Amino acid sequence: MKKNINNLFITQRVNEKDQVPKVIKVTNKLIKKLGYNYKIKRDIDLFRDMNTIEQRINFFHILSAVIENNVEGEITEFGCFTGQCAILFQKILDFNHSGKILHLYDSFEKKFSYSDKNIEEILIENFREQELKVPVIHKGLFSETLPGQLPDKIAFAHIDCGFGGDKFQHKEIVLFCLENIYDKMTKGSVCVLMDYVNPLTNDPGADCNPGVKLACDDFFKDKPEVIVSLYGNQVSHAYFKKL
Ligand SMILES: C[S@@+](CC[C@H](N)C(=O)[O-])C[C@H]1O[C@@H](n2cnc3c(N)ncnc32)[C@H](O)[C@@H]1O
Repeated sequence: MKKNINNLFITQRVNEKDQVPKVIKVTNKLIKKLGYNYKIKRDIDLFRDMNTIEQRINFFHILSAVIENNVEGEITEFGCFTGQCAILFQKILDFNHSGKILHLYDSFEKKFSYSDKNIEEILIENFREQELKVPVIHKGLFSETLPGQLPDKIAFAHIDCGFGGDKFQHKEIVLFCLENIYDKMTKGSVCVLMDYVNPLTNDPGADCNPGVKLACDDFFKDKPEVIVSLYGNQVSHAYFKKL
């Protein structure tokens, strides 16, 4: 039987910075008094949170379905940084009593707002703090770790390697990941593509890494799989299911 659990684990960690400032509380009261159906809420801190609440809900349902459908293979993430998505993946695995192994790939060279810190150490500490099993970490550029360090079969992949750089360089990195994982993805496995924005969907998410769509446009030209856009609020993403 599954452990009794509420869905609070899909929210990001609350810290002191997240306490609602007085000015916001007062403004919200005023807005309410004036009869407007609006409320000011904290926006995502892109360089800390790395994903939105809506994306976390999407991850919860997608990864749970992969596990429940007994899709063959392991769980992988290409670009894990401090583990904001990876922690959620491990929690979903544990919640479902899944023995699937989480493999993380990153060079840990990108620091974003953590300036001089050792990102790999922060990642490990974050897992320990949450009393989660530390995943298998494949440190290095993807060009060094792929395909050699990939598991034989992949059930779930998350490609999230945006670094705020040149979109054509990013496109090549995403393309490299897709080319290496595609044949290892088993039937029914799912790959989530962080930052994928399709302009035709009126997506409200910021198009912060257009290289993802460019890579997918190239890669899926001759493939039967379809990319499905997901609502992620401030940041978009999408997925495809391997046929
Ligand atoms: C946006 S962050 C990932 C956020 C992460 N998924 C999370 O939930 O916290 C992008 C990561 O991709 C990594 N990355 C980008 N290009 C890479 C490459 N060519 N090889 C290895 N890692 C890379 C960066 O080091 C960075 O940590």
